[in-house]
Amino acid sequence: MIDDEISGAELGKKTAAEMALTLLKDGMAVGLGSGSTAEWFVRLLGRAMAQGELRADCAATSERTALLAERCDIAIRPLDSFARLDLTVDGADEIDPALNLIKGGGGCHLIEKIVAAASDDLIVIADDRKLVDTLGVFPLPVEIATYGWETTVRMVQGLLAEADVGGRQMQRRLARGTPFLTDEGNFVIDCHLERIGDAVSLAGALNRIPGVVEHGLFLGMASRAIIGAADGSARTVFPA
Ligand code: 5RP
Repeated sequence: MIDDEISGAELGKKTAAEMALTLLKDGMAVGLGSGSTAEWFVRLLGRAMAQGELRADCAATSERTALLAERCDIAIRPLDSFARLDLTVDGADEIDPALNLIKGGGGCHLIEKIVAAASDDLIVIADDRKLVDTLGVFPLPVEIATYGWETTVRMVQGLLAEADVGGRQMQRRLARGTPFLTDEGNFVIDCHLERIGDAVSLAGALNRIPGVVEHGLFLGMASRAIIGAADGSARTVFPA
């Protein structure tokens, strides 16, 4: 799989993951992100560790990533066993010029945010389709408690009615026709906002709704992004 012939966006993802791997120093404590781009990083890290090129102590941001890590012979430690992580390498659904992000396309944003906040650096890896001028075309995932979920949805609706956004449609995420549940057993509401005019106030307002467990806005958290292109090149972007 790791050496299969690939092209297009997949090559961009792999190239970004390869460049991120060069930032690791031996013995670092590393958070492993979730999603198809982060999975490239896990596979490449597993190979580097198996070949004795690198040692790392790792925490995972989802059950799926933990399973992949185990298959790659990377031991996963609970986050609480680390004082801090040196860095986390994770994907994103949208990246703006300030490196504010929308994450949660895989529904892992709660754990991803906890792990990122416990890391000295959050390095985002993505292919260049993820770069945007303004966040919001990718539906914003909002993880909500199952208890009273319709009440919470009405509160989010009320908030969006007043917010500086371009659209207000909301959908509970489904998986094979049944409600999608996160690793923590919560629902996800995808908010089709089209354009988020003021991400800081939207994030703050969502945080104030008790039934909202976490949303996919990662503001001011990423220290750099590594962007891969379909031609196999990659570049590093720092917050504007
Ligand atoms: C999962 C995430 C992912 O990092 C994000 O959805 C990007 O995934 P991919 O690399 O597959 O495009 O936030 O919750």
